[in-house]
Amino acid sequence: MISKRLENVQKSIIRQIYDSASQNAINLGLGEIQFPTPNLIRLKAKQVINQGEIFYTSNAGIPELRKAIASSYNSNSKIEWENICVTNGAQEAIFAVLFSLIDPGDEVLIADPTFLAYKTIAEMLGAKIKTFPLKAENGFRLRMPDLKKQISKNTKILILNHPANPTGIAFDSEEITEITDICKKNETILLVDEVYKEVYLQKEIPSFCSSYDKTIIISGLSKSFCMTGWRIGWIVAQKELLNKFTIAHQYISTCASAISQKAAIKAFSEKGQTTITHLRKQLLKNYLFCLKYLKEFIEPNTQISPDAAPYLMLNIYQDDISFCKSLGKKGVIVIPGSAFGKESQGFIRISYALNQKKLRMGLKILKSNLIPI
Ligand SMILES: Cc1ncc(COP(=O)(O)O)c(C=O)c1O
Repeated sequence: MISKRLENVQKSIIRQIYDSASQNAINLGLGEIQFPTPNLIRLKAKQVINQGEIFYTSNAGIPELRKAIASSYNSNSKIEWENICVTNGAQEAIFAVLFSLIDPGDEVLIADPTFLAYKTIAEMLGAKIKTFPLKAENGFRLRMPDLKKQISKNTKILILNHPANPTGIAFDSEEITEITDICKKNETILLVDEVYKEVYLQKEIPSFCSSYDKTIIISGLSKSFCMTGWRIGWIVAQKELLNKFTIAHQYISTCASAISQKAAIKAFSEKGQTTITHLRKQLLKNYLFCLKYLKEFIEPNTQISPDAAPYLMLNIYQDDISFCKSLGKKGVIVIPGSAFGKESQGFIRISYALNQKKLRMGLKILKSNLIPI
């Protein structure tokens, strides 16, 4: 009964860990910033609801929000509001873009490790997946020859996550230029998911947004504005491509929620930007707290140094899947590195974006199950 395309898609390891965890387990697993959505967004949403103007919007989103998003890229590129399509979260943006670009047999290149959805969706659409390694011994940072070895004129799309889930590692400006040039040379589409770009820990992270006409950027407000439930994401692309993505988006979901879109405009205001500054400080504090708390389990010369929140990768020197299943039953959810690829086997991903009291409780249980190095 079920289509061939979906038949072999299995419940993810992450879901299996969640399902087997004890009921009140502390969640250091979610890819979510577990703080409330900033007040200015919530107040605006209430106002929109009270005014009652809650109808379909145009498929690509309301112009005011598209303009605000476009201007957030304008320090390094000429993005206009017609280059933006607002979607139901970055997740829908990924689906709409891949759905629009992939024909069966197309080659798609992704990192190992990386966010699970790219491979699953691309495979569902019939793509042939190739990977390049981000090795733990290099702190999960890219070595350019590893990418060059795998990319060719046959590579239709290179998908990058910048900064990356699960490692928090971002590319610097030189790497961005080099990767863009490699894609240009191979006429490869460069699809970059930048949903974590604004939750940097210390140093601002540059965007891949550039004049290369096959660059497509995906982003959203789930992480930077603690808005996972509001479902605001977007695609940035040259107009011809964007028009096609907007058609896919129309048939997937028509438009993003009108309430969320109108409230999201506030995120781009001066006050909104102050809110993220505050969030970044809190995340940095939590990150440093985790490092200190887990100090005796981290080998100083193999420490992963993320550029962005909210994940900490920890080598546990044992089978990560069994460890996470067992820890879930003891009251803490963390995610096994194997869920993201072969290169992160033996690691766990700890998400520290929650209040310090719960974080401390979770880490305490985690610590009592780790083997000191
Ligand atoms: C790399 C990455 N991209 C996209 C998403 C989905 O984000 P959204 O809530 O905007 O759909 C996630 C969620 O965890 C993610 O980690």
